Amino acid sequence: MVDEQQVRRILQTVKHPKVQKSFLDLGLIRNIGVDGDTVSLTLALKSENSPLRKGLEKQIDSVLRSLPGVSHVHMEVTALNPEEWEKIFPPPAYQGIARVKQIVAVASGKGGVGKTTVAVNIALALAGQGLRVGLMDADIYGPSIPIMLDLTGTPEPLPDGMIRPFDKYGLKIMSLGMTAQEDEAFIWRGPIVDKMIRHLLGNVQWGELDYLIVDLPPGTGDPSITIAKAIPSCWILMVTTPQKVALADVRRAISLFRRYNLKIIGLVENMSSFVSTPGAAPLNIFGHGGGERLSREYDLPLLGTIPLDLTIRSSEDRGLPLIVAEPESPTATIFQGIARMIRNVPGASCSPASSQ
Ligand SMILES: Nc1ncnc2c1ncn2[C@@H]1O[C@H](COP(=O)(O)OP(=O)(O)OP(=O)(O)O)[C@@H](O)[C@H]1O
Ligand SMILES: [Mg+2]
Repeated sequence: MVDEQQVRRILQTVKHPKVQKSFLDLGLIRNIGVDGDTVSLTLALKSENSPLRKGLEKQIDSVLRSLPGVSHVHMEVTALNPEEWEKIFPPPAYQGIARVKQIVAVASGKGGVGKTTVAVNIALALAGQGLRVGLMDADIYGPSIPIMLDLTGTPEPLPDGMIRPFDKYGLKIMSLGMTAQEDEAFIWRGPIVDKMIRHLLGNVQWGELDYLIVDLPPGTGDPSITIAKAIPSCWILMVTTPQKVALADVRRAISLFRRYNLKIIGLVENMSSFVSTPGAAPLNIFGHGGGERLSREYDLPLLGTIPLDLTIRSSEDRGLPLIVAEPESPTATIFQGIARMIRNVPGASCSPASSQ
């Protein structure tokens, strides 16, 4: 009598022609059953009309029948859905980000908490520390990076069909806001959003970068999911304000990102306190300690707390990020500290030496 071990051993000889792994190890031969002289199994293929199907059925049938004691083979063929297929055969890395070492996407549960401000200033702080940094505006519903960095013009297409990112303040920058009209309504949904984000990842010539900082739209909608699926190695940096309602949204966002197995690099609490005049006691306008509470609750590092600082808004409105407008200010120093914390997170580190 044949047993399942023998069946599995002989099935190891049926290799996938492209990857030289057995169909069994790839998880494409499933549900193996042995009943007397009959072996049954399921063969999973990209589609039921796969060109491999006929040859494979023949090969599997013949190796199994070569086992003494096997007279019948029952084979079912099933088609995998595209997501299952991508898990087994991941698509080649997006060309544009192939030479990017670390990707950090800045996310939040709620809108208006300062994601873009944090993304821009952290990108600049990292660049100021000698690293090669890109900034990608994935907030396709309301791209604000062109305004915050006073960028105008349209991106330049390269002969190979790729797009050259903008250069400003030592950053490579790309935003869909550069290609859309300012008054164009950003009402894209589902598949179009997916296409746009993939376009920014794949078709922009980012070149060699230590960090690509991605500014996500608020919440956990399509762009966040697309990024999560497209770049499984991506880090998420969560921005929150200290008040309770914001924390509830952050909790929801964290659980979604964790469901997609994305690593969260840490939390930044923004608008934590307000100092009206130098030396005055800080006012906790939006509450106090929310970032610390989340950090303990989820065991995530609190990378920094940024006060409400009028210079942030006034300089941004002039197209000058704080780090450029007031590089020596206490708040700019906090952003530099956050950049250093990011560089110290195990697995997310890059040093200027590595960029030589
Ligand atoms: N710490 C701060 N002190 C003062 N103003 C701030 C601070 N952080 C952000 N702002 C201001 O708050 C507004 C919203 O910030 P920002 O655009 O960075 O938030 P966002 O989370 O990216 O918003 P959205 O969800 O719309 O993308 C901006 O006008 C910005 O200048
Ligand atoms: Mg924003």
